[in-house]
Amino acid sequence: MKEIKAIYPGSFDPLTNGHLDLIERGSKIFHELVVAILRNSEKQPLFEIEERQKMLMEATARWPNVRVDTFSGLLVDYVVQQNAQAVLRGIRAISDYEYELQMALMNRKLNASVETVFMMPAEAYSYLSSRLVKEIFRLGGSVRELVPPQVEKRLHNKVRPIKAVAKR
Ligand code: PNS
Repeated sequence: MKEIKAIYPGSFDPLTNGHLDLIERGSKIFHELVVAILRNSEKQPLFEIEERQKMLMEATARWPNVRVDTFSGLLVDYVVQQNAQAVLRGIRAISDYEYELQMALMNRKLNASVETVFMMPAEAYSYLSSRLVKEIFRLGGSVRELVPPQVEKRLHNKVRPIKAVAKR
């Protein structure tokens, strides 16, 4: 069998335990896995790209075949530039499917040699997203079981949670 190098792209703002679960699964089936953070996204990120890269590098250091990088421009061009053959994406629930299918098919139209591989994270992470982590943290909820410790620490340094005020 050919050795397959895959790219796992995303915003990772911030990294969650769901992303990590997928990275671990990907590291087991691909020869090499590059976690690639998108630069210049239209979204206004909470964490700078360097911070996101650092958190990912810390959290993935235990897997020797996982590397962290950043990219800009078209994903398929980055895949070719990296001499990779596949894109890894996670599907948590049916609601992810339509968006992911659209992206995978558009990427195939742009470059038919790039395959997208979907993997499912553990059920425990099926409702987890970076957006919800940020919202829960801002509103004073616990994210301890949702993100790795270094991410929780950086959230504490960056965001001052809003304390609920009881109505009289
Ligand atoms: O974690 P996200 O934000 O859902 O990741 C989206 C990402 C980075 C995979 C997607 O926006 C992307 O690949 N952007 C790069 C630009 C590109 O290639 N666009 C065409 C995709 S069909």
